[in-house]
Amino acid sequence: MNSRFLPRACAAVSLALAFLAAGCGKSSTTADSSGSAPGKTSAKAAVTIGFLVKQPEEPWFQLEWKFAEQAARDLGFRLIRIGATDGEKVLAGIDSLAAAGAQGLIICAPDTRLGPAIAAKAKAANLKLLAVDDQFVGADGQPMRSVHYLGISAAKIGEAVGETLAAEMRRRGWTSTDTAVCVATFDELATARERTDGAVRALAAAGIPANRVFRAALRTADIPGSFDAVTTLLTRQGAVRNWLVCGFNDNAVLGAVRALEGAGVGADRAVAIGINGTDCIVELEKPKPTAFHGSMLLSAKTHGYQTSEMMFRWIRDGVAPPLDTRTTGVLITRDNFRQVLREQGIRE
Ligand code: GLA
Repeated sequence: MNSRFLPRACAAVSLALAFLAAGCGKSSTTADSSGSAPGKTSAKAAVTIGFLVKQPEEPWFQLEWKFAEQAARDLGFRLIRIGATDGEKVLAGIDSLAAAGAQGLIICAPDTRLGPAIAAKAKAANLKLLAVDDQFVGADGQPMRSVHYLGISAAKIGEAVGETLAAEMRRRGWTSTDTAVCVATFDELATARERTDGAVRALAAAGIPANRVFRAALRTADIPGSFDAVTTLLTRQGAVRNWLVCGFNDNAVLGAVRALEGAGVGADRAVAIGINGTDCIVELEKPKPTAFHGSMLLSAKTHGYQTSEMMFRWIRDGVAPPLDTRTTGVLITRDNFRQVLREQGIRE
C-alpha cells in the first residue's frame, strides 16, 4: 500500500487496519543465534530477546545485529534476529517470538506509525518493548514517549553536518552566490527530519541564504530513492556552480553524490557529508576521492549491544532502562576513518 498520498490521519488508520488484518503464517526473515556456550543450559533457556530491523540489507542494521550477538554471547541469552520490511512481517515476527517464548523485543519498525499496533501486540505477547533508532508515533502524530526508546541526538548531529559543510565551503573559497545546498530529505520519519532540519539551521546560521537551499524529498529511504530525487532536482538547478550536500543518512547522501556525478559534478564542485558512518566505508576507501567528504559516525555498538544489555537486565533483574536515551556522533573523513572504525570495533 502506498500511503504517501493519503491524508495523514487516514493513512495512519488504514496502516493500522492493514497491520491488524494481516494473517498469521506470513513469514519474515528470522535468524536465531544462541548466546550461550554449550552446557550452560539454564542460562540458555532463561532469556530470549528478538531484535527486529526495518532494512536488514543496510550495513547500519547489520552492525546493530552484530553487536547484539556479541551481547548475547557475553551475557548468555538467546537472540532472534528478524528482518521486517513491512507491517505484515512485523506482525508475523512478533507471533514467532511469542511462539519461541521470548520475553523482549528491540525494534526499529518499518513505519513508526505502526507504534500503537506494535505496542498492543507486544503487550498481548508479554514482550517487553524497546524501540531503537526510530521512535514510535502515536495516533495523535506525536512521539510515543511511554515506549522505551534509544536513538540519536538527531538535531545536534544534523547541526554538526551543517557546520562541517559551511567550514568546507569557506576552506574552498566558495561564496554563497556560487554555491547551493542539496538536502536529501525523508520527512515522514521524525529522526530523519530532525537531522536535515538541523543541518539547514546550521547552514543558515553560517550565512547561507534560504533561497540557496534545495530539498529533494526521497520516495524510498535508500540510494536509488535519493538518486532519483536528486537527479530531478539537478535538472531544474543546472546553473548552480558548487554544491553542499547533506541528507538524513549515508545512503541518502550517497544517492545524491551519484546523481551529481551523473550531472557531471564531481569532488571539485561538491562536498557531501553523511550520517551513520557505517554505510560509506567502501566510498571512503575508493582510491580517488569522490564528493563524499565524510560522515557523522554513530555508535552501532550502543544501539546494538547496549539496547540488548538494557533489555536483558530488564527481563532478568526487573530493572527497566531509561525511557529515552540519546547517542552522539563523531565526524569521520578520509583522514581518520580507518583509525576511528578500528577504535569502535567496526573494522579490524
Ligand atoms: C534511522 C536510519 C538509519 C540510521 C538510524 C540511526 O533508522 O534509517 O539509517 O541512521 O536511524 O539511529
